[in-house]
Amino acid sequence: MEGLRSSEWYGSEDRNGYLHRAWMRRGVPSNALSGERPQIAIANTASDLTPCNLHLDEVAESVKHGVYEAGGIPLNLPVVSLGETLVRPTAMLWRNMAAMAMEEMFRANPIDGLVLLGGCDKTIPALLMAAASVGIPAVVVPGGPMLNGTFRGRPLGCGTDVWRLSEEVRAGNLSQESFLRSESSMIRSKGHCNTMGTASTMAVMAEALGTTLPGLAGTPAADARLLEGAHESGRLAVELVQEGRTIGDVVTAGSFTNAIVALAAVGGSTNAVVHLLAIAGRLGIELSLDDFDRVGAAVPLLVNLQPAGEFLMEDLFRAGGLLAVLAQVRDLLDPTPITVTGRPLVDYLTDAPVWDETVITPRDRPLLPDAGIAVLRGNLAPHGAIVKPAAASPHLLRHRGPAVVFDSVEDLHARIDSPDLEVTAGSVLVLRGCGPMGYPGMPEVANLPLPQRLLQEGVRDMVRICDGRMSGTAYGTVVLHVAPEAAAGGLLALVQDGDIIELDVANRTLHLHVPEEEIARRRPPQTLVDGFAAPRRGWERLYVDHVQQADTGADLDFLVGATGPGVARESH
Ligand code: FES
Repeated sequence: MEGLRSSEWYGSEDRNGYLHRAWMRRGVPSNALSGERPQIAIANTASDLTPCNLHLDEVAESVKHGVYEAGGIPLNLPVVSLGETLVRPTAMLWRNMAAMAMEEMFRANPIDGLVLLGGCDKTIPALLMAAASVGIPAVVVPGGPMLNGTFRGRPLGCGTDVWRLSEEVRAGNLSQESFLRSESSMIRSKGHCNTMGTASTMAVMAEALGTTLPGLAGTPAADARLLEGAHESGRLAVELVQEGRTIGDVVTAGSFTNAIVALAAVGGSTNAVVHLLAIAGRLGIELSLDDFDRVGAAVPLLVNLQPAGEFLMEDLFRAGGLLAVLAQVRDLLDPTPITVTGRPLVDYLTDAPVWDETVITPRDRPLLPDAGIAVLRGNLAPHGAIVKPAAASPHLLRHRGPAVVFDSVEDLHARIDSPDLEVTAGSVLVLRGCGPMGYPGMPEVANLPLPQRLLQEGVRDMVRICDGRMSGTAYGTVVLHVAPEAAAGGLLALVQDGDIIELDVANRTLHLHVPEEEIARRRPPQTLVDGFAAPRRGWERLYVDHVQQADTGADLDFLVGATGPGVARESH
């Protein structure tokens, strides 16, 4: 083991060394700060306001035991936490802020290695972005999904069934009373959402990138094996420091290939696209939107989980978990990337059987032959937009229809159920003003609700187009992440009611059929670009001034890349 980074604080016998050591002694053994024992920070996103991560203090205790056992010193480091269901205007506005704050604290403190405890949607992405920019050894412990809840004898998918049941209420098929009664059945235990939503997806992505103990992602939060894995991850963090294996040594371009294959095979959330692009950006790895289509489009869908399928995360874990899925598509993986253990990810696939083929289907009987994310281009999205065919209605994947345009979420809510709204099942619903700059923060609103009148007629899906994101627990024929967004001057800002829009997923196109002369006449847009008032202060101001578009991960321009672990100046 080379000299520890923390020795820069604790190693000297002068006044500064004294200051750094003395305040940390407080009962720890005298050799704790000797320069021999790696200082492992447990970056902990537990918070009473992030209910999905509430149990991470317990997980941190197990990590501590592992760190001590391996000879390190564990240090609990509470970091910015983001609860998806509560934080306004959208947790995505704060992802980069959380990542920036974490990065600075990782660098500013005498830390040799990291154990990253995350769960709810933005927490694992922010932790990985931060760790990548600092570049020290790091291992992720995903907090795990909650256990399956049931309502009236049927499994209740956390998140997904909120959308489904609320649509049924609007369609008149479910009473308001029954809807509210389901509320207490949905969250059965500690843990994050139990569908293949964003939290589950990002846990799986962390494992596919090699940053978790192989086999740990998806372990339910209430399962004792999570604490066992946390203990082992604590040990591993000490070993990583001793061996000098940083996050940059583990996560390479090939790791992203494996993550994209995993994303498609499990039918993961579209949110993974912006998060993986942002993490790659921090590591200086060239990853583009087109890589998701190139690598992932032909990957078969093998996991039958809500929101697109039937089962929940507890079932996936029981059926063999991510490793069993990846074993089915091993030939599509890059065999070279290693994991935090130092061994290649593919090494863990030789003994990874599928225990329930109704949950994980065999390669020769996929749920869909090609399940990845499709990247669309055209005059409406010259920098790209995405659609998840697995969550869409097959008959809408090629569609041409007149636009019904909403300028904002508020406009949508005010008019979507109006009897005067001129809309049919063949219309294309357009929601703009929801991109990174425009909202600001790119909220999960792209799966806009269908007009009540059409719901009552039995319509359950329509083509929807938006510059925002979609909840990983949602479904439908939704074209999202349109770049550039309306507020950044994208053509989306110029669409008017009745304009014909053509979606052709097979040919990867999204086109607004309005003559060039008419488009020129409409510029500059009277709606969003002119009407967009940038916030005047604080994080929102910084964010709007510097946020990039969805096609590059919506990170701030000055946060892309890494600064490394070095701090040039002393504090005293
Ligand atoms: Fe936290 Fe779904 S709300 S993971």
